[in-house]
Amino acid sequence: MPGLTIAGTGRYLPGRAYTNHDLARVLDTNDEWIRQRTGIVQRHYCPVGQGAADLALPACQEALASAGLEPRDIDFILFNTMTPDHLFPGSGTLVGARLGCAGVPALDFRAQCAAMLYSFQVADALLSRDGIRRILIVGAEAHAALMPWLDREILEGTTQRKPSPEAWELASRHRGWGVVFGDGAGAVVVERSEEQGTGVLAVDLHSDGNDAAQLCIPAGFRVGSYLGGGDPDSTLIHMQGREVFKQAVLRLPRSVEAVCETAGVRVSDVDWFIAHQANQRINDAVCERLGIRPETMPSNIERYGNTSAATIPILLDEMRRDGRLQRGQLICLLAFGAGFHWGSVLVRI
Ligand code: COA
Repeated sequence: MPGLTIAGTGRYLPGRAYTNHDLARVLDTNDEWIRQRTGIVQRHYCPVGQGAADLALPACQEALASAGLEPRDIDFILFNTMTPDHLFPGSGTLVGARLGCAGVPALDFRAQCAAMLYSFQVADALLSRDGIRRILIVGAEAHAALMPWLDREILEGTTQRKPSPEAWELASRHRGWGVVFGDGAGAVVVERSEEQGTGVLAVDLHSDGNDAAQLCIPAGFRVGSYLGGGDPDSTLIHMQGREVFKQAVLRLPRSVEAVCETAGVRVSDVDWFIAHQANQRINDAVCERLGIRPETMPSNIERYGNTSAATIPILLDEMRRDGRLQRGQLICLLAFGAGFHWGSVLVRI
């Protein structure tokens, strides 16, 4: 059976970074609270008028360049986002066209923060088919489109204006999630490998829609209330933060133990735990429960916040470029997100 190998990676973080102090201009929050509860210090936001495919494009170009490949070398695009450019079509076909891959099949995943894990499992299966040698896996998010504040000049402090009492109240009511998300894109080119023992060794994936209401944007194609039927609140994120936190801390360690057991390796054999960056406290608790050294679970949440489907490919790119990721290492990707979707993937790179 052929395996897969990581041939190239890229990332793109748009524009300037926005600090916690910037956010305190548009909603009732403060740097200390955000740092202590989440580990986040700054994040980037997608520019006005742009969307996920715009952020994805430079990340994909960088991934192709680092793999020494051309757009025509790509046989499939897997696009992960919870903030697609349009209700339809998906963002994968948009980025494919801009990249010069028109005609190449493109599939969007709707598994939110855990989408990269689904992409790795599907890529692994696709690469075992004749004719598919290289797959571009992308994660990109433009959460800024749905932030509960709108006025960038106030956010950036370039005006004396203050938010109206209504705007302040709305943004502050949503401060629990309004401070954690950031925008960006990451891309990974995976390639078929005939080398014995490389590639996806085991997958432990789950989805449970019983908890869907705990983290969702309710608006959609519901008959009689299309896109929320005019209720602006239903187009914003609804998040029971504490419950999501508890579930993530409970389910992620179990998943990592299960994936290692399936592959016949010990948790301590894993070189890197490349975890979704939702909250530093979640990842610290997962490390503690697994009894692993925190240094084996790298973090960049401080700089980027939670970029949902983009966190894992951005981190992979950083680690590949600074030399932490090396051929032959055993890595475990793990994530928990809306749906709930969660799990882990063990890869020998
Ligand atoms: N700034 C200042 N205060 C805030 C705040 C903010 N941005 N957000 C909430 N608070 C306040 C609350 O109003 C509450 O105040 P009160 O005690 O006076 O009522 C207090 O802080 C505690 O709120 P709570 O929501 O219980 O905080 P928390 O410790 O659970 O932290 C999250 C909130 C969102 C950071 C945390 O629950 C979390 O990260 N959950 C997981 C979410 C997640 O991972 N989502 C993405 C999954 S992919």
